Amino acid sequence: MKVENDKAQSVKAAGAGGGANALWGGRFGAGPAEIMEKINASISFDHKLYVQDIAGSRAHCRMLVKQGIIGAEDGDKILAGLDQVEREIAAGEMKFDPKLEDIHMHVESRLREIIGDAAGRLHTARSRNDQVATDFKLWTRDAIDAVDAALRELQEALLDRAEEYADAVMPGFTHLQAAQPVTFGHHLMAYHEMIARDRGRFRDARKRLNECPLGSAALAGTSFPIDRHATAANLGFDGPTRNSLDSVSDRDFALEFLSAASITSVHLSRLAEEIVLWTSAQFRFISLSDAFTTGSSIMPQKRNPDAAELTRAKTGRVIGALNSLLIVMKGLPLAYSKDMQEDKEVTFDAANALALAIAAMTGMIRDLKANREVMRESAGLGFATATDLADWLVQNLNMPFRNAHHVTGSLVKLAEQRGCGLEDLDLAAMQSVEPRITEDVFRVLGVENSVNSRMSFGGTAPERVRAAISAAREALAAETGAGGAA
Ligand code: ARG
Repeated sequence: MKVENDKAQSVKAAGAGGGANALWGGRFGAGPAEIMEKINASISFDHKLYVQDIAGSRAHCRMLVKQGIIGAEDGDKILAGLDQVEREIAAGEMKFDPKLEDIHMHVESRLREIIGDAAGRLHTARSRNDQVATDFKLWTRDAIDAVDAALRELQEALLDRAEEYADAVMPGFTHLQAAQPVTFGHHLMAYHEMIARDRGRFRDARKRLNECPLGSAALAGTSFPIDRHATAANLGFDGPTRNSLDSVSDRDFALEFLSAASITSVHLSRLAEEIVLWTSAQFRFISLSDAFTTGSSIMPQKRNPDAAELTRAKTGRVIGALNSLLIVMKGLPLAYSKDMQEDKEVTFDAANALALAIAAMTGMIRDLKANREVMRESAGLGFATATDLADWLVQNLNMPFRNAHHVTGSLVKLAEQRGCGLEDLDLAAMQSVEPRITEDVFRVLGVENSVNSRMSFGGTAPERVRAAISAAREALAAETGAGGAA
């Protein structure tokens, strides 16, 4: 990628003595080269952590006062100053400057401008290493809660649509070849199951994430008599992390978030792909309204499922982010290394892509209309009730399944030769292959009969599908929030 400012490529330090960093530049005579500043700064993306950063600073400050490490008067000044900094950033009034590297230094340096020297006491017994780990965990926790709520809405959309089409017969496929009739409701409920497991993965990740790194300081802990349990409780963590080195080095909470996000994206992508197929003129199983399609600038007849295509494509960003962070972390010695600053941009981008994909999918599921007639007709193609015929032979003629499979194969061949469906063969033709077949066999050859008979638990019979929908609705109603709150 092109470095924006060409001058930055000449690795030239700013004039000696001037420009050394105000927050850590005590032993530095000169400021950084322009390119150093450029590669080092994270403010262009980590500014979004300001809410978490200020929340962490408040908790830290209160604890420092409570432990008598800083005076109450300084503490009050710091808290009031932090309120002002937060208001200013929220109002878009803070000018972000790469010289101040990251959000932590922006907040502290503005605090100093507002309250003066007392600001310098806030950084007692902490480091940017535990600070950034805490901020990023708080952000990821919120991101998990947002994904969880969005996925719940998708589940509700799937349940409503599945209920509407609980008895709409469609072809079920294996190898994308017509296999056995199923119902559209059953097909949609398959995705409901996937999303339910996805939410479980995010919730599991949240439980492991919810330990507070703050107070681990740079890597070794601190000699100040801090109370890490108090800060942890204040920030809604279950408790403090147990090892200071691990605390500042751990990014598996982000990796878990991205792993869960990747699996969810893959599920969304599979459904998106089916929507693309189903809306095509070749399938015509479903249609999307104007709200979820776009036209072509040259082909007036086109109605393109762009939202589904982009949902499918967002998967690349999410899996890319997981790959990227896995590679960043691989081989880093303990404890913190600046490499870890690369954790945030990809995670933010993945969370954004996932949020868009979930919302678009929820919209499409709510929007879509199924073409019952086309689906039903298609369900009868490709000898989709051949298994029902074989099952009839087993149940009525006491044939071993393997023999029944063979007899059915011969009947399929016969129908194929005559260019008709199994149900179109007359009884004489059936009996030419197996003389014991009776009129009763036609009862199971229709696609409705086929799906109605699939009453096994988890099967596609509309009655089963409706039961699965009510069970899922009850489970949703009984749910507690992602944070464990009732
Ligand atoms: N901006 C840094 C990051 O995102 C904050 C931590 C910096 N720590 C340090 N020792 N330089 O990782």
